[in-house]
Amino acid sequence: MERSIRETDEPGNRLRRELSALDLTVFGVGVIVGTGIFVLTGKVAKENAGPAVALSFVVAAIACGLAALCYAEFASTVPVAGSAYTFSYATIGELPAWIIGWDLMLELALGAATVAVGWSGYAKALLGDLGWNLPPSIVGEKATFNVPATLIVLVVTALLVLGVKISSRVNAAIVAIKITVVLFVIVAGLFFVRAANYHPFIPKAVSTAEVHGGKAPLIQVLFGYTPSTYGWAGIFAGAAIVFFAFIGFDVVATAAEETKKPQRDLPVGIITSLVVCTVLYVAVSLVVVGMQNYRHLSVDAPLAEAFKAVGHSGFATIVSVGALAGLTTVVLILMLGQSRVFFAMSRDGLLPPGLAHVHPRFGTPYRITIIIGVVVALIAGLVPLSALADLVNIGTLFAFVVVSIGVVILRRTHPGLPRSFRVPASPIAAILAVLACGYLMLNLPAETWLRFLVWMIIGFAVYFVYGRRNSRVGGPRAEAEGSVPRG
Ligand code: ALA
Repeated sequence: MERSIRETDEPGNRLRRELSALDLTVFGVGVIVGTGIFVLTGKVAKENAGPAVALSFVVAAIACGLAALCYAEFASTVPVAGSAYTFSYATIGELPAWIIGWDLMLELALGAATVAVGWSGYAKALLGDLGWNLPPSIVGEKATFNVPATLIVLVVTALLVLGVKISSRVNAAIVAIKITVVLFVIVAGLFFVRAANYHPFIPKAVSTAEVHGGKAPLIQVLFGYTPSTYGWAGIFAGAAIVFFAFIGFDVVATAAEETKKPQRDLPVGIITSLVVCTVLYVAVSLVVVGMQNYRHLSVDAPLAEAFKAVGHSGFATIVSVGALAGLTTVVLILMLGQSRVFFAMSRDGLLPPGLAHVHPRFGTPYRITIIIGVVVALIAGLVPLSALADLVNIGTLFAFVVVSIGVVILRRTHPGLPRSFRVPASPIAAILAVLACGYLMLNLPAETWLRFLVWMIIGFAVYFVYGRRNSRVGGPRAEAEGSVPRG
């Protein structure tokens, strides 16, 4: 672990330290507020939880809050690029770290592709408002190749190569627009809330055809419940989906090496952004289900459509513009996070080390960034987003579970390390984080679990074919350096 921290200062591998706590919070809010609140709110209210979608947000926020405490302690102890990957590498070992690095691709690269596809839907809606109707073959769920989704990914890739400071400035401006629009929804929407729309707040559980088989939450399949929607089961299933809306606070930790005072600024950035977003989400979801009956909410652009439903199309356009801007920053930061995780993995030799090369002028790991950009652009162009969000969620929740366990391990193995932030009531809070995230995972569909397991098995294969032979700890480089005996 000490080596991991020391290596961040090796010339040629060094990233620039330019970010403050405020920058990190802006980064956090920039990546957290996105598809989750702008799109999934409508879907979950309509299909899972009814007006009680606000409770789904609260449940997801509790799980994330517990995990965030663990991330904050980790980030304040091991402030090295790579987030959960580095934490696991430093505490549990190389194989678990590889598993997490592989798993984080689901959250970061796949997450970025998912949000880019969501972006293209809003782009289509907005261009439609302006009279330019894009053909369905190049945009939308049924597109052969989604051109706008690919383009936004490539633009974001260019920004990332040019340097983190430029990216964070662009980001700050867009985050301001996004938050203004979210506040606008809350304040303007309040005038159109009808009390009747809140009855019943928690609709009675019903059995529906759509949630049978692989689509039913694993917990319902395992315990032989009749698969159902709404009711309390619906609130929890909804929580596992709107969890997507909170993804991103952990990405703040991936910018550790670019932070001026990581030990202090990281915990502040992580926790502040999570609190801000939770308040916004609960308010937005309460307002939106109050404006329009949950059964009629749109599943594509619920915030905008709710304004159309009360006769204010102009407001709807404003919301669409904000959503578009908001989703852009989400793609940007998810890809930034992914490039930093790959950066750390190649520095450790689990991926080809040449990839970690930092651009002499821009100070960014440009090779990795370009490779990720091209892959994410292709996924965004070719794959529709419906099932992707669930896969992103399961991957992220798994990472949260591992990090929470890692915090407890690190307290035992390295009790003396300086920690500017400590999880309160350790290890109870960490154990609760594991239980809460694990419970949300169980509420995801059985087929999502299957896809997740297949992805992880592929990861094992890659590790045993490449990573294990070439890594700094176990590979020939370690032998040459004489640092680690081979066992
Ligand atoms: N939390 C991010 C979003 O909602 C990933 O889009």
